[in-house]
Amino acid sequence: MYDFKPAAPLASDELYRELLGAAEALTAGEPDAVANMANVAALLWEFLPDLNWAGFYRVAPAKTGGADELVLGPFVGRPACIRIPFGIGVCGAAAQSRATQLVADVHAFPGHIACDAASASELVVPVLRNGVVIAVIDLDSPTPARFTAADAAGIEALAALLADRI
Ligand code: SME
Repeated sequence: MYDFKPAAPLASDELYRELLGAAEALTAGEPDAVANMANVAALLWEFLPDLNWAGFYRVAPAKTGGADELVLGPFVGRPACIRIPFGIGVCGAAAQSRATQLVADVHAFPGHIACDAASASELVVPVLRNGVVIAVIDLDSPTPARFTAADAAGIEALAALLADRI
């Protein structure tokens, strides 16, 4: 049985081992993408210290037709901007490049979208299904340079787990 919250602060490798185990247990056999994203957003919030936003943007059609864009999905944190075009801000850069964006200082990132003025650093990981981006996982922190390469690797493993579950 998983507690869905670490009992004590954990070192990075154990933290992500437990986080992935909890995500696997929570989403196994559940086909509803919204339910799975909602539970994983809550897990990220419970497991990872020093966040002010954790959640998903999904790739979805634009309101008026045209190119797909990122649309706000389940999250924990303050209300956020709803639609982000590919290529705009940190999330849009991750979606367009299909590559993790590890940003130590969001104020130095061209086009960063300040949903919450408290955000100082950010980690955005694309979720790829058969090489196509279907969503991004977005983590924000009020602490500059909060995220490490170990965080990026851990969230990339989470994205791989979720590719067929969201
Ligand atoms: N800062 C992000 C926008 C999303 S919010 O942080 C929740 C960006 O620049 O893409």
